[in-house]
Amino acid sequence: MVESYSKNANHNMRRPIVKEEIVDFMRTRQAQNTGFLKELEDFARQENIPVIPHETVAYFRLLMQTLQPERILEIGTAIGFSALLMAENSPHSQITTIDRNEEMIGFAKENFAKFDSRKQIELLEGEAMDLLPDLPDDSYDFVFMDSAKSKYIVFLPEVLKKVKVGGLVVLDDIFQGGDVAKDIMEVRRGQRTIYRGLQRLFDATLDNPDLTASLISMSDGLLMLRKNVENVDLKLAEN
Ligand SMILES: C[S@@+](CC[C@H](N)C(=O)[O-])C[C@H]1O[C@@H](n2cnc3c(N)ncnc32)[C@H](O)[C@@H]1O
Repeated sequence: MVESYSKNANHNMRRPIVKEEIVDFMRTRQAQNTGFLKELEDFARQENIPVIPHETVAYFRLLMQTLQPERILEIGTAIGFSALLMAENSPHSQITTIDRNEEMIGFAKENFAKFDSRKQIELLEGEAMDLLPDLPDDSYDFVFMDSAKSKYIVFLPEVLKKVKVGGLVVLDDIFQGGDVAKDIMEVRRGQRTIYRGLQRLFDATLDNPDLTASLISMSDGLLMLRKNVENVDLKLAEN
């Protein structure tokens, strides 16, 4: 039914980075979704659409209820599951979410029309790098980056301009099923562009005093970045 994701897609989502029984525990013991969020989560799992796994759902619930960010930016909407989850748990947030996949945009539009009852979510259609420069600077409190992993380091300088000082950027799927800790020669050839992009991301952020960085071993890894200063210097070498 869904054409964008085959049954074998998103290999890293099936390579847990913590013990399998702990992953199962986190997925089964933490409060389950109900209502339309359950419906969307079930649909995504059934169609192998790579929405955030249940442990991240539980973590985002907590983050949203606690932080109540005024403005949220998401890169990677898919069917709109994570955007609706954030909206549901932070009723006063304004959320801008970006996607370029026509099929996913179709599902997202349908789901936002049905379930975004407070009209919190704005969907921008197109390539993130084309759309990001037009967004207002210094205005987002929370950014969720959940798109092509090799491009995180390409998007990050632009994203950081858009975030307020003190704001949080969360990047999903940064462990590549554990590959990031290996030598590049042990990584499958087809995965090496992502590997290189992620290593550049780690080099630019983990030890950078303009940011406070934390790696979380949840899902396929989250990198959380607090923006500490107005102009973050990522010290990126020119390509
Ligand atoms: C992992 S899915 C997002 C899942 C969603 N955040 C959730 O958990 O419900 C990634 C999405 O990012 C989109 N995407 C990937 N690279 C992109 C880019 N460069 N610009 C815009 N969208 C992009 C894909 O089309 C896909 O729908």
